[in-house]
Amino acid sequence: MRVVLWVAAAVVVISLPRWLPGRVVVLRGWVFTRINGEESIAVPGDLVGVDRFREVYSHPAASGRSKGAVLSDLFWYWLSPGPEMHQEHLEAGERYDAVALATRRILSRPRAQVEELTRRCVRRTLEGRRGVVRLRDLMMPAWAEFSYELVFREPCPPHARDLIVGNADDVVTALKCCGLRHMDRRDRLTEYLVESLPRVGHELPAGLTAREQALYLQGAFFNTAVVQMSEATAHVLMALARHPDVQDRARAGDDRFLDQVIAETLRLYPLFGIAHRVTTGDIPVAEGVAIPAGSVLCFDYPAFHRAGFPDPERFDPGRFDPGRASVKELNHIPFGMPANRPCPAWRLAPLAMRVAVREVLRSYELDSTAAHTRSLPNRGPCLLTPPGARRGRGRRLTLLSMRLRDGWEDVWRSLVQLVLGTYMVWDARRLRLCERHFSGDARSEST
Ligand code: HEM
Repeated sequence: MRVVLWVAAAVVVISLPRWLPGRVVVLRGWVFTRINGEESIAVPGDLVGVDRFREVYSHPAASGRSKGAVLSDLFWYWLSPGPEMHQEHLEAGERYDAVALATRRILSRPRAQVEELTRRCVRRTLEGRRGVVRLRDLMMPAWAEFSYELVFREPCPPHARDLIVGNADDVVTALKCCGLRHMDRRDRLTEYLVESLPRVGHELPAGLTAREQALYLQGAFFNTAVVQMSEATAHVLMALARHPDVQDRARAGDDRFLDQVIAETLRLYPLFGIAHRVTTGDIPVAEGVAIPAGSVLCFDYPAFHRAGFPDPERFDPGRFDPGRASVKELNHIPFGMPANRPCPAWRLAPLAMRVAVREVLRSYELDSTAAHTRSLPNRGPCLLTPPGARRGRGRRLTLLSMRLRDGWEDVWRSLVQLVLGTYMVWDARRLRLCERHFSGDARSEST
């Protein structure tokens, strides 16, 4: 009897990586809903199907950004300091227009300059790197330097790069509930930016205090830009590492195929899980049925990106072959809806990513046996080897140990995410940063 119990216990323990992380994710979702309440309407969902996803997302009344949604308190918490100055979370109005114009100006660079800047930043970052890396960590310093040079029009000094990486890494780690916020790291960057404002190479939004201008730059360029570009590139490289045939074709092929790889990666692993809007008027959805003003709509990117594609879980860049598909007709909006505050970097980002991925493929062959999921909490473990040195026993052993380690890390991480996530959701509800901002009750604090 005792032997049977021991064997049963051993089976449970050994199989933990297979079943525990998935269950903990479900439990985390349940805890989040309990604390946040069930205020939102999922789109697509019971009320709005996939067929009307674009129409509702583009509706002029789907325009409120933060005010009136409990969910906003959580986003503001993660994006602090200065979420009230983050372009993504500003309500429509003069301030939003001034900020959006400044962002467009900073991002409007000739294509050749963007390519040259990316190449330079990525080459410097890759120097001397080989062996097992985490792709998100590998790419982040390159995108930190890239963003710095976009804003300041001069090369990024190492101490500024370290401040930017410290800030961006802290934000994305907290967003994924893998760690708590470290406000000291974020505040150090704010202080640096306030001091550096006179060196910014662009006209900044008028009518803002120096601190507000610094917080605007921090939010859009040293937080969102760095996090999104690092995550997106890590996803593309991870997809290539896990699909050697696609990798070989991408290395040998032209940019058109690489664009297909990027499009398919962002379809399967969209950076936004959900984007929310608060309705500012009624939105009719059927005869006599309307979504009332003040509703919170949660646009579910992964669900939309899977609908209408055969075998949607399969990674297949061929879906975006121009001979086979007109991208406009596909359920594919990695940069948001053109009619409702899409990503201002929708042109620049794919261009820069293409150059970055090319640089990595030129220098390395990529292999990974780690899990590749949309939220990429493992930061993309990957083996980098110089071209031609791919086969051999050492490589096989490294990949085997990567798979085992990733599975066990996932068990531990899912428990950490459950505990820290629950704490942060609770703390965000306690601080109510967004709600208090709009009710005029905000204390000046960097929490
Ligand atoms: C591959 C990289 C990127 C992807 C996939 C991406 C994706 C998106 C998406 C889907 C949205 C719209 C979300 C919504 O509807 O609420 C968005 C908004 C935004 N993105 Fe990006 N993004 C990327 C890179 C960047 C970069 C490099 C910047 C640099 C400034 C940036 C800045 C912003 C801003 C400021 C907004 C808010 C726009 C507004 O509300 O006016 N993103 N992004």
